[in-house]
Amino acid sequence: MKFITNFVLMLLLTLREIAGHVEFTNVVCNSFDKSFADFEYCHIKAVNRSYKYVSLKVNLYKVPVTKIKVNLALWKRYNGYKPFLYNVTVDACKFLANPAKNPIANFLFGSFLPYTNANHLCPFNESIILDKLPIDFLNHYLTKVLPFPLGDYGGFSNWYAYDVNRASVKLYATLS
Ligand SMILES: *[C@@H]1O[C@H](CO)[C@@H](O)[C@H](O)[C@H]1NC(C)=O
Ligand SMILES: *[C@@H]1O[C@H](CO)[C@@H](O)[C@H](O)[C@H]1NC(C)=O
Ligand SMILES: *[C@@H]1O[C@H](CO)[C@@H](O)[C@H](O)[C@H]1NC(C)=O
Repeated sequence: MKFITNFVLMLLLTLREIAGHVEFTNVVCNSFDKSFADFEYCHIKAVNRSYKYVSLKVNLYKVPVTKIKVNLALWKRYNGYKPFLYNVTVDACKFLANPAKNPIANFLFGSFLPYTNANHLCPFNESIILDKLPIDFLNHYLTKVLPFPLGDYGGFSNWYAYDVNRASVKLYATLS
């Protein structure tokens, strides 16, 4: 794990090429089992030129949910989206019990932590909400640490409960 962490950080440093501007273009949420979980909403809203945010709400229908895994990957568009950087799976319940043990997951979690109600130990008994995560917050958080080549990116995620893929969330961004 330590080795992989160092490897990914090294890779990120090698890819240093500062982007002038990051634009989050779309968010797409899909439930694969609507009797288990479904999205009440999932969108990017532009209030004005400088204030855009992402909001989503997932209702859970079989609570308590005691076993959750999240699979995250970064994709980049060439001719269609191709896997770009990492593809990691995190046991969410173990992670929430001990965030410091997984620096990469902890870093990613920090990118939306102040705007979610999911900041607690398992089980999950209630709807999961991401409430008006400002794009600006995300931009500063990510570009400060992760310099990437210019282009179109997809931050894709699969959400597993009891080892069954229940939902996916895809966030699209353009670096120019
Ligand atoms: C954009 O909207 C936010 C929230 O309503 C407001 O605080 C901000 O001043 C607005 N910015 C501009 C440039 O109008
Ligand atoms: C969630 O539900 C479980 C089982 O019903 C219960 O033991 C637990 O205390 C609840 N947790 C919260 C945070 O409400
Ligand atoms: C990670 O890789 C697996 C195996 O190739 C793939 O099925 C999965 O969709 C990838 N995850 C994401 C979030 O793209």
